[in-house]
Amino acid sequence: MSTRSTPVTEEHFRYLAEHTRGDDAFLLSLKDAAAAAGMPAISIAPEQASMMQVLLKAARAREVVEVGTLAGYSAISMARALPPEGRVRTIEICDSHADFAEEWVRRSDVAGKVEVHRGDARVVLAGFAGESADAAFIDADKDGYLCYLDQCLRVVRRLGLIMVDNAFAFGRLFEKEPDDPEVPTVRAFNDHLARRGGLHPVIVPVGDGCWVAVKE
Ligand code: SAH
Ligand code: DHB
Ligand code: MG
Repeated sequence: MSTRSTPVTEEHFRYLAEHTRGDDAFLLSLKDAAAAAGMPAISIAPEQASMMQVLLKAARAREVVEVGTLAGYSAISMARALPPEGRVRTIEICDSHADFAEEWVRRSDVAGKVEVHRGDARVVLAGFAGESADAAFIDADKDGYLCYLDQCLRVVRRLGLIMVDNAFAFGRLFEKEPDDPEVPTVRAFNDHLARRGGLHPVIVPVGDGCWVAVKE
């Protein structure tokens, strides 16, 4: 038995980004407006959006739940991969982010396919019915990740998808003494997810590292 793996370098990241469908004019202007409004530039990468769209299409997903809306970039991207009757329920705790996202969803080609749910995802997710989604994407405060994973495992149907952002901890996964307390939180979450039963997970080295898992 032998295996062959190529370590992913900056050069590979650049190369795969150049070989992936990028942002259209609408998403570029959404990001410009979000930056102008003072929002952090932490939307998922375009190549990660493409990967998630491919997965959602392959899973024939109709109902998607997102934890962490920000400007609506990932919610709009995911909604574009759904059939006409599809829906993304995206949860956002910060009203100014939710306001911004709602406005841009309204102006988008997927208006009517994205619902912004306001509040702490710990509370909002608990109000979603079991097995009511085909896929979930977790991308909010890292302290909440374990709780969001538990809730998403309840809300997503069997053989549904659960995707989780930032497995590479903002590029700081291997830093010796990170000053950002979310870095050890992500490490602990990664260790948990790798061993947890009830789902089949893998880290995909795209963007800042994206967990992709199927609920078993
Ligand atoms: N998924 C987005 C980026 C999300 S950034 C994209 O790729 O386009 C993380 C977002 O999670 C921020 O807008 C932040 O306000 C929100 N957030 C943080 N804590 C939260 C919580 N407890 N419940 C819901 N949203 C939360
Ligand atoms: C950062 C990036 C993210 O994708 C996120 O969800 C939170 C923070 C960052 O780079 O700081
Ligand atoms: Mg993220």
